[in-house]
Amino acid sequence: MTSTTTQNNLIDLLPTRVSDDNGLAQDVKQGLSQSPKKLSSRFFYDAKGSQLFQQIMELPEYYLTKLEHQILSRQRKEILFAVDTTSPFQLVDLGAGDAYKTKLLLSELMGMKADFSYVPLDISQDQLSLLLEDMHHRWPSLPVKALAAEYFQGLEWLNQHERQRKVVLFLGSNIGNFDLDEAKNFLCTLRQSLHPEDSFLLGLDLRKDPEKIRRAYDDAAGVTSAFNLNLLHRINKELQADFDLDEFQHFAEYDPLEGTMRSFLISRKAQEVTIGALNQTFQFEAWEAIHTENSYKFSLRQVEEMAQDCGFKVQDVFTDPSHGFADVLLRPVH
Ligand code: AVJ
Repeated sequence: MTSTTTQNNLIDLLPTRVSDDNGLAQDVKQGLSQSPKKLSSRFFYDAKGSQLFQQIMELPEYYLTKLEHQILSRQRKEILFAVDTTSPFQLVDLGAGDAYKTKLLLSELMGMKADFSYVPLDISQDQLSLLLEDMHHRWPSLPVKALAAEYFQGLEWLNQHERQRKVVLFLGSNIGNFDLDEAKNFLCTLRQSLHPEDSFLLGLDLRKDPEKIRRAYDDAAGVTSAFNLNLLHRINKELQADFDLDEFQHFAEYDPLEGTMRSFLISRKAQEVTIGALNQTFQFEAWEAIHTENSYKFSLRQVEEMAQDCGFKVQDVFTDPSHGFADVLLRPVH
């Protein structure tokens, strides 16, 4: 048995997840039938998409990862002190990805010989296999339980699982992909699965110079464009579609009133696309847009309000010197 196979066996597929039907077909059918057309950003992360997102995180324009890395690297002692590492706990990492930032906390925790286990959750199984291998290699003694699931399934798992104190991470401004009401719903649902002694560290991109925000989603090297277009490539592959990737283009725009960074794929001409798996053809007008992603930018006041409404109190706010990004430590109010 190869080590990868061994590692793969450690991934728990949550029972609610039907591995063959990931919901793509339904999302595409619905999204392309409505006006304006849309596709869900959660389908970006196939193997290729996850790889492109890794590249995005290294782009000079993509400040989010750099700022959060800076926060976690400089303030990890304070953060860990605030969550209390003196009694055993589970570190649950929602949307772990490659855990680039979580590793800062993990190495600190390993150094202080904290009694904890690591529970990364991600929708990409490929990502999780890589992560497991990496973890096993770095810290052989660290207990890791990987969960391949959607966020809300992960939350359910938190609820049903045997009770242990939990420190939940939701880093990288992943919450920004939700609409505001979805974000609040997410916070409130999470709150219900937490106990008074648990804590929640939430990473959020903050409002800032609109030009800086826009450039982060429209980089000069074109990686974000490739990331966005890969969604069509994925649909071609998985749903036997015939999107011509040269006839669609990436477009990204920031709305400073709402704090919404929006990404689109624009049809460069009038065209027809057939999706074999749906047995259906969709019409695109010249310059018609498919809305593919929202990346919401928050104000701290907004976060505080949302947290309070869901029964959290803000215990600490960790930010970088430019106040461009925040990791907010929330505790259940009891
Ligand atoms: C992974 C959701 C935080 O919205 O900034 C990066 C994804 N999209 N560039 C973000 C993304 C385009 C990213 N998140």
